[in-house]
Amino acid sequence: MSAGDIADTVNDNADAIDILLAQHNQIKQLFSLVESSEGEAQQREFDHLRALLAVHETAEEEVLRPVTRSDVPNGDAVADARMEEENEAKEVLANLEKLGCSSSEFMPKFLEFKKSVLAHAEHEEHEEFPGIRASKTPDELKKMGKRIKMAEKMAPTHPHPSAKSTTANYLAGPFAAMLDKVRDHMKSGKD
Ligand SMILES: [Fe+2]
Ligand SMILES: [Fe+2]
Repeated sequence: MSAGDIADTVNDNADAIDILLAQHNQIKQLFSLVESSEGEAQQREFDHLRALLAVHETAEEEVLRPVTRSDVPNGDAVADARMEEENEAKEVLANLEKLGCSSSEFMPKFLEFKKSVLAHAEHEEHEEFPGIRASKTPDELKKMGKRIKMAEKMAPTHPHPSAKSTTANYLAGPFAAMLDKVRDHMKSGKD
């Protein structure tokens, strides 16, 4: 599944928080699918999860975090804590990707990763999303939703741990996304 496909799985009128919550559910389902499958199917589900996490976190960093900083009470601290969790996750995800599902080291590391990603999603849902919803009108939230979908279409589909700040991620975004698309394309063997 490409980043564009992921961004298109939610309807055009969904607001920013609806989109992100729907993706949190998708992420949870994909964690379970990776856990319960084997062989090629497991690798396929992991690739899907990796792509969804990479575009989801990039969109949050580009579109949501600036609003958290400016509009949510104690916003800088909330945004900094979420960025730290996401940067850590990017590193673990890049390592898991390198390791591959067939490695005996994969599953214990993957289960640890699942725990921290789900805790991160809960922190967002309780400490960040309610403040964003309270500070914006329904119309503004829909506009943010459109920006999230745009960001996800441009986002890299592989984690880039070197992009530690929102600005660095933004700069890394389109170029890294292009490289990823070329890499995915070559892997899939299509012409
Ligand atoms: Fe996040
Ligand atoms: Fe999230």
